[in-house]
Amino acid sequence: MLPIGLLMKEHRLIERMIRQMEKEVQNMNRGKAPECDLINTAVDFVRIYADKCHHGKEEDILFRDLDKKDISSEHRAMMEQLIQEHVWGRERVAKLVDAKDRYVQGDITAKDDILAELNKLIDFYPKHIDKEDNHFFKPCMDYFTDEEKEAMLRECFDFDKDLIHWQYGWVVEKLEKA
Ligand SMILES: [Fe+2]
Ligand SMILES: [Fe+2]
Repeated sequence: MLPIGLLMKEHRLIERMIRQMEKEVQNMNRGKAPECDLINTAVDFVRIYADKCHHGKEEDILFRDLDKKDISSEHRAMMEQLIQEHVWGRERVAKLVDAKDRYVQGDITAKDDILAELNKLIDFYPKHIDKEDNHFFKPCMDYFTDEEKEAMLRECFDFDKDLIHWQYGWVVEKLEKA
């Protein structure tokens, strides 16, 4: 397996969560109240799985190693754009949490902001994933030797192994601060 095989497999799960978020948008558009449990689950998924686990491996392993290579200016520009998009995605999630919190506190107008941020995330992820899957990952593998690819894959597995400890450390810290 190539390191990008692992990352592309993660893209498939992200797409499945995006479809659940789409359903929520459709329900809200039909006049249903925001499903806060679903939004909390989606926020957790995007923050921990899509951002910490998935973007984490892209940025801290794949992009870090690509940065050391003499890559084309086109690939470098694309890598920088992908990193900027990760930042933009984080900002959307922060706004979504803020809107959801305001809604829970009784601000009915926050519903529009929840819808707006959900729509932005639903629009963003498939485009970002398409860029990586179909225009970036495969050509980038040509910069690496087989040994380097194997080392990256091992590091990806180690990254995942540490993640559960980070995640539950974070869960306990959140409770302690509450
Ligand atoms: Fe990405
Ligand atoms: Fe990705």
